[in-house]
Amino acid sequence: MGKKVVVTGVPGVGKTTVINGAMEKLAAEGVEYKTVNFGTFMFEVAKKENLAADRDEMRKLEKDVQKRLQQAAASGIAAMGGDANIIIDTHSSVKTPTGFLAGLPEWVLRELMPDIVVLVETDPDQILMRRLGDASRARDMEGFRSIAEHQEFNRAVSAAYAMYTGCTIKIVRNENFLLEQGIDDLVSVLR
Ligand code: AP5
Repeated sequence: MGKKVVVTGVPGVGKTTVINGAMEKLAAEGVEYKTVNFGTFMFEVAKKENLAADRDEMRKLEKDVQKRLQQAAASGIAAMGGDANIIIDTHSSVKTPTGFLAGLPEWVLRELMPDIVVLVETDPDQILMRRLGDASRARDMEGFRSIAEHQEFNRAVSAAYAMYTGCTIKIVRNENFLLEQGIDDLVSVLR
């Protein structure tokens, strides 16, 4: 059985950047992982059904619609399973207009059964600056306190994921000027 590693973090923390860096290092060592982006799976269905014009609109959809897209993504990813090592790039929780939506509720965990859940974190002011600097996305503009609260909620909800699956929870810091350190930390978990 391959390893299933779920990598999460609030929008703009740089989880995709850290994953890509780790993939490069692991490939050089001959360690193979497939990476899948959970949001991309959801967006493929949302686009087909004309529910969202871009991926940032999805978190504003009605809660039951998001849950349906989530379920579709989870079973699509589970079907890829097999013996390959997989990294799933996703969210511990999604900030919606009606509150935090669990990114890995029971029906998603049952499909994925991760070995490890990684939380990529850094200081909220750094995340704020990264969001402001990324013109390619329609990111939520929130303050320092609100980003800090989202990171705290992600830790809390991840404890429930560990209780349900027996997975371990790893926190990887992705700080300004210290990207390599974050990448090395993730590599050590994936190796
Ligand atoms: P997704 O595509 O995952 O959106 P996202 O959170 O915005 O993720 P990104 O990949 O855009 O950001 P990132 O944190 O990876 O940062 P990046 O590496 O780009 O999800 C889209 C949507 O799908 C969600 O909004 C949700 O609706 C839905 N979804 C997904 N999973 C779900 C689930 N399980 N349940 C329900 N819905 C779900 O980096 C950002 C910037 O920072 C870049 O400019 C980068 O250069 C810079 N940067 C990175 N690291 C550093 C560093 N160390 N120093 C300085 N700059 C840095």
